[in-house]
Amino acid sequence: MKNTAIFVVFVLAVLGLLYAISGSRAPRIPENEAHRVFDNNKVCMECHADGGRVPRKPGHPPKDQCIECHKVKRGRK
Ligand code: HEC
Ligand code: HEC
Repeated sequence: MKNTAIFVVFVLAVLGLLYAISGSRAPRIPENEAHRVFDNNKVCMECHADGGRVPRKPGHPPKDQCIECHKVKRGRK
């Protein structure tokens, strides 16, 4: 019984760690004129596509749902 409790705590610790290193690492969307419109992923690619003005790093996660990971700063709609 005691081993089960230790195992459960261990699993929760691993899940917490995975959560901590996942989406929360993504930098927040800056609050400036370029990022006034941010509810459409296609808008982002005008500047952040490969070969655009501000391309993402080569190691950037491949998914194109930008705002799933990049949140706007607090206090913004
Ligand atoms: C008009 C061009 C433009 C558009 C459109 C644009 N960006 Fe940016 N973005 C920039 C520029 C320039 C920078 C770098 C300078 C800065 O920090 O503002 C930047 C930086 C960033 C950063 C990095 C912030 C950091 O701390 O390193 C993120 C994240 C980002 N943009 C996300 C997005 C997302 C998501 C969208 C779509 C909702 C988007 N951007 C649309 C121009 C744009
Ligand atoms: C799966 C989560 C995720 C998604 C989806 C995502 N990003 Fe990121 N993004 C990150 C992480 C994590 C970093 C930090 C990478 C680093 O520091 O090496 C980052 C960094 C950035 C940066 C800063 C420069 C760089 O490459 O480090 C920009 C700009 C950016 N993302 C734009 C976008 C745009 C535009 C989209 C949509 C096409 C997008 N991101 C979708 C997780 C994500």
